[in-house]
Amino acid sequence: MAQQPVRMGMVGGGRDAFIGAVHRMAATLDGSMELVAGALSSTPEKSIASGADLGLPEDRAYPTWEAMLESEAARPAEERMEAVVIVTPNHVHHSVAKAAMEAGFHVVCDKPLVLNAAEADDLVATQERTGKVFAVTYNYTGYPMVKEARHLVRSGAIGDVRKVIVEYNQGWLATPLEASGQKQADWRTDPTRAGAGGAMGDIGSHAENLVSYVTGLGITEFASDVTTHVEGRSIDDDTSVLLRFDNGGRGILTASQVCPGCLNDLRLRVWGSTGGLCWHQEDPNTLTQTSLEGPDRIHHRADGSLCDAATAVTRLPGGHPEAFIEAFANIYRGAAAAIRAGRDDGETHDYPTVHDGARGVKFIGAVIAGGGDGWKRFEE
Ligand SMILES: NC(=O)c1ccc[n+]([C@@H]2O[C@H](COP(=O)([O-])OP(=O)(O)OC[C@H]3O[C@@H](n4cnc5c(N)ncnc54)[C@H](O)[C@@H]3O)[C@@H](O)[C@H]2O)c1
Repeated sequence: MAQQPVRMGMVGGGRDAFIGAVHRMAATLDGSMELVAGALSSTPEKSIASGADLGLPEDRAYPTWEAMLESEAARPAEERMEAVVIVTPNHVHHSVAKAAMEAGFHVVCDKPLVLNAAEADDLVATQERTGKVFAVTYNYTGYPMVKEARHLVRSGAIGDVRKVIVEYNQGWLATPLEASGQKQADWRTDPTRAGAGGAMGDIGSHAENLVSYVTGLGITEFASDVTTHVEGRSIDDDTSVLLRFDNGGRGILTASQVCPGCLNDLRLRVWGSTGGLCWHQEDPNTLTQTSLEGPDRIHHRADGSLCDAATAVTRLPGGHPEAFIEAFANIYRGAAAAIRAGRDDGETHDYPTVHDGARGVKFIGAVIAGGGDGWKRFEE
């Protein structure tokens, strides 16, 4: 029998929000989850109106997330919401995720997980105590070609990893956009709502996670250069980090939101002792592999040669592009499978866990605190 969609309630993602709509499309793409409830916005009026926009029944378009948790927990088991999806600004993540798990709900939360290490440790402890499934939407891990890169690195196709360069460049914060009141810029440049990291938290978090997912290497030491170019801004908008890995390999991570003309220029390059790999988010259906012998090889999504993990998340024939929404959907598919299996297991079901989210938050905090201060040790 086909798996029943997991009943989800969304916090955030109301009118004028960015990523909530992507989550809703992704959750339903394969029938992994279905929206049954929501506390979709920061004011009760807008929450209720946003719920009506999405066709939620009046009694399940809640004014606040607290009301949603309380009322849903009191419903009969067969209709009760099962998972809470958190797509609010970062400062809201911790309290919603903690309360959701304690009320018996699974959690899907966007990145960065929370504001600081103390909140991260608290969510890890709460997850371990409650046993709830917890997925963090580091969506770039959901791309088939990223899964192929992971497979190639881990099966030794490029030898021992020596060098990693991961860069995420955007240009949309090259001017003080937040001064205009633009919603997404406003909270992302406020450390009380974004956390310690600006560019480092918003997109550097993806870069850190991508390196970890593909290479499996741990960062042991780093040296960071943390900069704010736009006058009056109180958070980094351009950060670069030198990395040392636990196998002796070296790396560079750079996250900038002040590169005019750059959109979502996320690129990962990994070189080992016998070859290299390059994946670019803006051309996500291919992966370039180089070798000492040459010539270069271009892997295409759905070309019949990919590993099981990549093939399993490929929906369309090659040449019909798959991208952002499908990658998110792959995380939803894994999280829903774990929920139906009754066990939080990101390894088996291939989704980022609360532990990945916590490591990311600690790395952001360490990089910002250590800015300009030479080499530092990194401990998760
Ligand atoms: N994985 C990705 O690629 C990706 C991309 C964009 C954003 N994000 C993350 O998703 C989250 C949301 O980002 P966004 O750009 O969609 O933000 P946004 O500002 O566009 O939307 C945030 C939504 O949360 C609502 N909200 C705020 N406080 C709330 C509360 N107490 N209760 C209910 N709703 C509340 C707002 O009203 C709004 O609807 C952030 O954590 C961000 O880092 C991830």
